[in-house]
Amino acid sequence: MVSADRQDGTGGYGSLNGTMQTFLSEVQKDLAQGMLSPRVLNDPDIHRAELDRIFTKCWVFVGHVSEIPSPGDYVLRYVGEDQFILARDEQGEIQLLLNNCVHRASPVCRAEKGNTSHFRCPYHGWIYKNSGEWNGAPYRAKAYRTLDTARWGLRKAPHVDSYQGLVFACLDPDAVPLREYLGDMCWYLDIVFGLNEQGMRAAGDPHRWIVPANWKSGAENFVGDAYHVQSAHSSLEDIGLLPDLGESLSTQFHVALEGGHGLIITPNLLPEPLWVMDYPPEVASTFDLARLGAGQREFLESRYGVVGFTIFPNLSLIRAVASTERGRPPVCFTALRQWQPRGPEQFELWNWPMVWNSAPPEFNQASYEGSVFGFSPSGVFEQDDTVVWRGGPMVGRSAFARQDMKLNFQMGLDGMSDYKPRPDWMGPGEASTSVYGESNQRRWWQRWSEALASS
Ligand code: FES
Ligand SMILES: [Fe+2]
Repeated sequence: MVSADRQDGTGGYGSLNGTMQTFLSEVQKDLAQGMLSPRVLNDPDIHRAELDRIFTKCWVFVGHVSEIPSPGDYVLRYVGEDQFILARDEQGEIQLLLNNCVHRASPVCRAEKGNTSHFRCPYHGWIYKNSGEWNGAPYRAKAYRTLDTARWGLRKAPHVDSYQGLVFACLDPDAVPLREYLGDMCWYLDIVFGLNEQGMRAAGDPHRWIVPANWKSGAENFVGDAYHVQSAHSSLEDIGLLPDLGESLSTQFHVALEGGHGLIITPNLLPEPLWVMDYPPEVASTFDLARLGAGQREFLESRYGVVGFTIFPNLSLIRAVASTERGRPPVCFTALRQWQPRGPEQFELWNWPMVWNSAPPEFNQASYEGSVFGFSPSGVFEQDDTVVWRGGPMVGRSAFARQDMKLNFQMGLDGMSDYKPRPDWMGPGEASTSVYGESNQRRWWQRWSEALASS
């Protein structure tokens, strides 16, 4: 859309040109009226700007501490479209290292995961410690007698930190601390992941698969789109694997947080005594609710749970119940999911089923199976969603649609529904009375446009 107007002379977006700024101002005006240009779902220049402006500036999820428990453990990860090694070094510190040799850029690590103290580049054999420092090269005494070795380590993310076991990295040296970036989301992360000292772990390696849609469709769905469930997922009700979808839609609501983060809250779906976010007694009895604050305990005692969230830009959570076959008791499951951009027309979906370290193995197995049944490459929910998100790139590339088509984000605006602030909410953020509103989605897009417009 703006290629012809690119004027910064760098081939990149060191400074966004006027046309992009104008477009983003229009996006913000449109959002105030509940509209959005479909261009945002398929534009190469917007995509490039997202990589430059969002993925190098925001804290981005890169994994769970349980994936690299011991010194030497590593996994390959992405920030935007850049590949990194997430490693626990010999001192036990977590490092995020760009997986490109500083000699001629070859990837120094070609396994998806493993354990090693060093990475040896396959091209000329330079060697790096798992902390990123340069550690040697073949024929060093002949070839590199005066090399400034301190200068030639692997490129490191300047900031890596974790909260409740979730590891994030930020490529911006001037980043705010992770806790400040997450803000009030920490309150809800304590509830989802911090119910006891042992916490949760990734049940295995993340599932990964390509989806022919724009990454933002996933992020904005999980930040607030409970409305689609009655339509996109209605076949699950039809075959008896989900309860009355209209009923759950009528009892869920949103919480909007600063920073583009947002959640969908649900009352417990299973009957007593499954009172702690639908966990059965043998799991709930392992929780130590004294770790939580009074408001967080009130949240749980009110039989509320988090069913989904998005942390800006591209980490989401699903926490729901599923029966994997008719007649089998439903079980609660939790999964982290990440929308990894792969160009403007497709993304890679990464999915981490999570289980409790304190729970009986039988529960964790059933929970894992429920998770995979619903949300995974073969997940029955997942396929409903990924099919409908294909429309984004289609309309985003349509010459006709790009003339003046707007997508509708008006639910909840101007008396269109009963969507109001919920009084006396015990937690941080703005809670709503229902999910018949798209305020969380509009806020997510507002944050997106501000991030793209910032210098
Ligand atoms: S590219 Fe890595 S040693 Fe040359
Ligand atoms: Fe869905």
